[in-house]
Amino acid sequence: MKTLKMTIDANHKKSKINKEIYGHFSEHLGRCIYGGLFVGKDSDIPNVNGMRTDVVEALKELQVPVLRWPGGCFADEYHWKDGIGPLENRKKMINTHWGGVLEDNSFGTHEFLELCRQIGCEPYICGNVGSGTVQEMSEWVEYMTFDGVSPMAELRKQNGREEPWKIKYFAVGNENWGCGGNMRAEYYSDVFRRYAVYCRNYGENKLYKVACGPSGDDYHWTEALMQNLDKKNTQGLALHYYTRTNNDWSKHTAPATNFPLIDYYNVIKNTWVMEELIQKHSAIMDQYDPEKDVALVVDEWGTWFKVEEGTNPGFLYQQNTMRDALVAAINLNLFNQHSDRVRMANIAQIVNVLQSVILTEGDKMVLTPTYHIFRMMKEHMETTLVHSYMENDTVTYEEGSFPALSQSVSINDKGQLIMTIANASLENAYTIDAATLNFKADKAEAVILTGGMGDFNTFEEPENVKEAAFTDFELKDGGIVINVPACSIIRFIIG
Ligand code: AHR
Repeated sequence: MKTLKMTIDANHKKSKINKEIYGHFSEHLGRCIYGGLFVGKDSDIPNVNGMRTDVVEALKELQVPVLRWPGGCFADEYHWKDGIGPLENRKKMINTHWGGVLEDNSFGTHEFLELCRQIGCEPYICGNVGSGTVQEMSEWVEYMTFDGVSPMAELRKQNGREEPWKIKYFAVGNENWGCGGNMRAEYYSDVFRRYAVYCRNYGENKLYKVACGPSGDDYHWTEALMQNLDKKNTQGLALHYYTRTNNDWSKHTAPATNFPLIDYYNVIKNTWVMEELIQKHSAIMDQYDPEKDVALVVDEWGTWFKVEEGTNPGFLYQQNTMRDALVAAINLNLFNQHSDRVRMANIAQIVNVLQSVILTEGDKMVLTPTYHIFRMMKEHMETTLVHSYMENDTVTYEEGSFPALSQSVSINDKGQLIMTIANASLENAYTIDAATLNFKADKAEAVILTGGMGDFNTFEEPENVKEAAFTDFELKDGGIVINVPACSIIRFIIG
């Protein structure tokens, strides 16, 4: 087994790892909202105010910090007034973007904010720029947050909510370079400035406004937005990047399960592209915002594969394997490592869509390998990144190469080191010989997620992939020696 040296310096503290990096995304898409999160009060599936109890409990276990809604592409077609008031009066419409199914608007603003209350997370609302007006967006903010006498506050009260809600995160449009209006960067940057003005801060409520950012490596978009930055109204710039087997958007033909080896390698290689994207977009942002006041908000990331056989292609329902677990761990390690600029990230999407943490079918629910990564790595939330350096190995295959290992280390307020190491090599195990500087590593506990690259959980066999206690390490004077198996993710709490 190859030995790789690692150094961790507990005194070299870097940026805070915001809990919002462990955020999620829910869209009116397929069975994410309807059936996944929300079943309605009259459902036989156990629920509280229409929210599935099993799903809410599982999400509470993850300590989900923030949930983005209502889209996605749906957001720029969503008119929030269609989703308030008595159910029987709510407009029924066709969800043209996602599967052409009926949207009855039974899940709207009140229901979303009730869901966030039950989960215990911050709401992150995405306003409609593509097909909505400035007035409509402005009134939504007023409806939710104004604590006084105004037409929207009165309407909210008529609909049964006396007190305003506290809303922090608010996005001014989604993918306005594409489904959100097909705009040029220069044009959108002015549109953003205009809409953002009318998203008011009422009373104590201070909005954290997020501008639509680039798709993948569209550096021109970032440059144009940053050049035209209105700093007082811009707290974040969104980045979207999905991991696929190839980079042709039109082809989601790669299976999520039973995939060939070459697909595994390409997916891991492509997920590492996130590092380059963060570095290059951050470098542009640094030129205009050296103080790093504006966050890079990776509010859509994750894998995108072929839908499960027999399901509506517009529903984006895919299974989730050990490969997805590695993708999640590599990305979360990258976000931790770049937490000086990346202050929120939202995996797409929370239930039944793309790289979900939970899948449901009727009253059944299963936790995916990605769920287990979020449960393991939640220990990094609200900790401080510390300096760590690890020698690495390279996995080389016929179409490219990628680093075998990924890692991040942080320190919590109890003075414990939290460390996650992911090994994406399918062939090699490694011994990591880590020196912990300025830290007494006198006790440690660890959990591991491991299995074959294509292992996954089903409703019938929900525990094929799940965390287990990990003990193949030894504490030594001034450090720790760890034997990391192939295709595994290990999370340590040291001290
Ligand atoms: O997450 C699915 C879709 O991907 C979102 O609606 C859109 O923003 C992105 O293109």
